[in-house]
Amino acid sequence: MNTRKGADMADVDGRYAFPHGSADERRRLDLLAARLDPVTKRRVGRLRLAPDVCCLEVHVRTVLMHIADRMAVLRRMASWLAPGGWLVAEEADFGMWLADYDPLWAAHPAAWHEAFPHGSLGQGRALLRQIHQLGLADIGADAELDIVQPGTALAEFYQLSMAALAEPMTSAGVMTADEAARLAARPSDRDFLGCGFAFIGVWGRHAGPPA
Ligand SMILES: C[S@@+](CC[C@H](N)C(=O)[O-])C[C@H]1O[C@@H](n2cnc3c(N)ncnc32)[C@H](O)[C@@H]1O
Repeated sequence: MNTRKGADMADVDGRYAFPHGSADERRRLDLLAARLDPVTKRRVGRLRLAPDVCCLEVHVRTVLMHIADRMAVLRRMASWLAPGGWLVAEEADFGMWLADYDPLWAAHPAAWHEAFPHGSLGQGRALLRQIHQLGLADIGADAELDIVQPGTALAEFYQLSMAALAEPMTSAGVMTADEAARLAARPSDRDFLGCGFAFIGVWGRHAGPPA
């Protein structure tokens, strides 16, 4: 799913928030991977795959939320499964973040969506419906919620994300530069504990017998 260069995508259609070429993007993605890799490994580990299993791209994580025609893409991915093969999809969801009690923090999801209307605020929750439309068996799902705490690697991930989004959000007119700067700094305030993404994972198996 990530084979095109991110910088090209952002420049060409303006729909992706985080160009791969920007200074902090490698660090931001490393922090995201550090947060999510253990969750993904746990989910995939529970599938009890054979040691010699073949993998095309077993898996999609926090990509569908940024693209159009999400259901069509999921259908294509399901169509690539071998009999007995698994599809695992993991997507971020802004639901808890939207409802956070910190007013500045809770303003972010709507501002992001205004700047990038193509993106989904609820793709994690959407997966819970979509996985049933793919003709798969042995469907399951679970979720992990980010609680953002000052001084943690997770707080750094959110700060880098907010900093990268400051310009698009101010350009969209939904935040002033001062509000965007205060938002980016919020996870480092000692009194802060806020809800971030819920990471919702779903999985299902091609109903045919293993090859
Ligand atoms: C939050 S990153 C997730 C990276 C990785 N999947 C992970 O979970 O660590 C979102 C990814 O979506 C990709 N992306 C965004 N829009 C896309 C599009 N229209 N087509 C393909 N990939 C896209 C970006 O290049 C970026 O790598």
